Formats: sequence, structure tokens, C-alpha cells
Amino acid sequence: MLVLGIETSCDDTACAVVDENGVVYAEAIANQFEWHRPYGGVVPEIASRRHLEHLPVMIEHVLGQADVNLDAIDAIAVTQGPGLLGSLLVGIQAASGLGWAAGIPVYPVHHVRAHLLAPFLSLRGSDSPVTPLFPYTGLCASGGHSGIYRVQGPQDVFRLGETRDDAAGEAFDKIAKLIGLSYPGGPAVEKAAVGGDPGSIEFPRAFRDRNSLEFSFSGLKTAVVQHVRKHGVPEGQGMKDLCASFQQAVIEPLAQKAVNAAKKEGIPTLAVTGGVASNNALRQLLGELCSETGIKLMAPVTRWCTDNGAMVALEAALGISTNTKKPEIPHAVSTWPLPVPQQSD
Ligand code: KG4
Ligand code: ZN
Repeated sequence: MLVLGIETSCDDTACAVVDENGVVYAEAIANQFEWHRPYGGVVPEIASRRHLEHLPVMIEHVLGQADVNLDAIDAIAVTQGPGLLGSLLVGIQAASGLGWAAGIPVYPVHHVRAHLLAPFLSLRGSDSPVTPLFPYTGLCASGGHSGIYRVQGPQDVFRLGETRDDAAGEAFDKIAKLIGLSYPGGPAVEKAAVGGDPGSIEFPRAFRDRNSLEFSFSGLKTAVVQHVRKHGVPEGQGMKDLCASFQQAVIEPLAQKAVNAAKKEGIPTLAVTGGVASNNALRQLLGELCSETGIKLMAPVTRWCTDNGAMVALEAALGISTNTKKPEIPHAVSTWPLPVPQQSD
């Protein structure tokens, strides 16, 4: 089975051709950093216009790279939410139009469920396919989402705890803007933190209770704003220390709570996903905590941490092959909460 995956939920335009084993035949990702950089964050109107320009060319390109034409595509998968409405609509219209014209069924995909499945992607010709292992505990930390989930199957994903306010990536982006670093903030802060002392400034951590699986990053953001108001934007070692201390205050709760969730759930496998999962300090801390507790850690390669079309195709491909997903007319949804587990689960 070959699935064409389309992702336009935020500012990355992406598509890919993937089979039911998660093998990526071809993919293309066009980021819009240059367009949004002057504003220090995503401007929704600009994002949808760029999707509209890029997507048709990119779909043609990936089909060519995969060396298939539309007749060989069994299903079209498209992110229907959560995300920016204008951006989602571009992907949905493209998927629906193609599906209608070529007689291919269209499958709406949940963006966070797709992120959580990204560890099972592999590249045709260079990696061996990775067999999905259900159930597992998943952390998804990105620019729009931060939560911990129980992944029982490709479509059975339950929310164990999420952020009450900002997402982790959003905190990175906003603090980067505050201290004059470029967009996207995560990679910029990570780079600026190299050689810094993560313990030099004691920034707050919310919901320290071991049983809480919720996050909050707005208090941390305020604390950094106050610190900068008092001391100014530092230079040299001071900048490294500020970035390292802020980064530590984001990654520590993410890692500790994800590992606590895996222990609480009694599930010895943890997946770390989403754009923030490309952060090396987070991966290292999670690696340490997991090896102390005997938990197996899975993480996608960096380019499948951030938004991509391959994870969208895989969400649908696994749903179709396990008979848990049906074709539907997609409709854009900006918020789409995943269910909480039933009391008896
Ligand atoms: O998953 P993603 O591409 O989009 C959403 O679904 O939101 O994640 C983008 C987010 C941005 O906020 C970006 O700053 C953050 O992921 N990010 C990082 C790193 N790379 C990307 N955050 C921390 N460290 C990184 N290396
Ligand atoms: Zn995402």
C-alpha cells in the first residue's frame, strides 16, 4: 500500500509517499523560516499563502522522486487538525481535489497522533523498517503541543497530561525573540546554550508533584522576562548561562514527567516526538533517566521530529492496515483534544 501524506498544519509545507511499513519512498519539506523570521513567530496569513504556492509543486515532485504516478497511490492522508485553520484548509483542499479527481480515498489525520508514530519511519534503501510496538508512552513536545500520551494503537491514543498554557516549543520561540535570537527559537537557544551552566539561574518549574503529568511554561516565560528586565540581555558567557538555564527549565519537566508517566503506566517503552524532541539536551537527559529505570527510549531522526508529511502518511497507513481508520471528508479543526483514558483502562 502506498499513501501520499500531506501536512500543512502550521508553517511547514510537507508531503511524502510512504508504505504501510513506514518506509518513506520520497518526501519534501519546505519551511517558511525566512518569511516568519522578521515577526519572531508564525503569521497565519503568510503561512497559508506560502502553502498554496508550494504544495502543488511539491506533490508533483515527491511522486516523481518515488517514481510513481497517482494511479499507484492507494490513499491520501491529510492533517485535519489541530492547527491553524487557514493552513489546514490548503492541505485539505489539495487532498480532497486530488482524491476526487483521481478516485483515491482521503483519510483525515490527527497531527499529534502522527507525531507520536514518527519513530517507526524509515528511509527506503538505507534503513531497515521499524516494527511498531504497542502500547507505549509518548511525549509530544512541539511549537503547538506539549503532552504525554498512552499510545495503545495507531488510532487509540489517550491523553495522560498536557500543558495548561504554552507549548514547550512556543516557550523556546518566545524567549528567543525576547533575547534577540532568530526564529525558530528552539535550535537558536540550543546553540546559544552550548558551554553555558544550566544551574546558574534558578528558573521555576511548574507542577513539581511527582504524580502530576501536566506542564506549564507561562510562569517560566514571565521569570525570564523579569530576569532580562532586571539584568538586561547578557552577552558572552552570560548569554550561554541564560540559555542553558532556560533550556534546562523546559527540558527537565518534559523528561521527568514522561519517565514518571511510563513508570506509572507500567509501560517500559517511551517515545519522544515533536519539534522539541530534536533538542540534544532533552534527548540526553531522557536517555539517562530511561537507562536508570530500564525504560526503552525511542526517538525519530531529527527531520521526522519537526513537522513532515511522512508521519501523516504513516498515521493513515497503520490505521488502514489495522482496519481502524475509514476514509472521510476532512474538515479543518483548530482544536482536537485526544480522549482521556476511561477509568477502567
Ligand atoms: O513539531 P513542530 O515542527 O511543529 C509543531 O507541531 O508545532 O515543532 C516546531 C517547534 C518550534 O517551536 C521550534 O522552536 C521547536 O519545535 N524546536 C526545538 C528544536 N528544534 C525545533 N526546540 C528546542 N530545541 C530544538 N533543537
Ligand atoms: Zn507538529
